[in-house]
Amino acid sequence: MKIVGIGGTLRDGSSTERLVAAVLDACASMGAQTQMFGGSALKALPHFNPESAERTTGERALVDAVREADAVVIGSPGYHGGVSGLVKNAIDLLEDLARDAHPYFDGRPVGLVVSAAGWQATGVTLAALRGITHAMRGWPTPLGIAVNTVAQKPFAADGSLADPEIAAAVAMQARQIMQFAKGAA
Ligand SMILES: Cc1cc2nc3c(=O)[nH]c(=O)nc-3n(C[C@H](O)[C@H](O)[C@H](O)COP(=O)(O)O)c2cc1C
Repeated sequence: MKIVGIGGTLRDGSSTERLVAAVLDACASMGAQTQMFGGSALKALPHFNPESAERTTGERALVDAVREADAVVIGSPGYHGGVSGLVKNAIDLLEDLARDAHPYFDGRPVGLVVSAAGWQATGVTLAALRGITHAMRGWPTPLGIAVNTVAQKPFAADGSLADPEIAAAVAMQARQIMQFAKGAA
């Protein structure tokens, strides 16, 4: 099983990126091969231009990785009540998968993760990511992960998950991803 993670911000210690990485790690502990496109990889992507066929090495790497993936994990911070531009630009690039035999996320599970400073943004951003996943023919896992970085204390000083409820959600989402991906294979 190949699982690709996309998400993060340009902040050092991005909670979004840590949460996506935690889902990938949980999938890896169940035998998956994982690849992460975090804030630094997303920052290197030019603004997506649908009228240009030129692609950078970084753009090709992301498109090829998703093309070959059995499942995807997408994480976004709630920025002004929605998906951040950095993450959305990476998603828009996946338009390059539109004419594949399995377009976009077709037939594949997509784990969704949101980090925000308030509950309202966690909810609407998670709903937006579900809408995006449906538009791109993917199957959002039943459990989405919404973390409020003000009301919760997600991480220990070393960056590992410290909140048992969030850790349980990460483990459950990883199980749902693996179960669906194995069933679809
Ligand atoms: C530009 C910007 C816009 C934001 N907008 C919201 C928002 O509308 N609602 C909210 O709850 N938090 C908002 N936040 C807070 C972030 O969602 C929150 O700090 C998140 O955990 C950051 O993720 P990170 O740790 O991966 O950088 C905003 C932060 C920034 C920088």
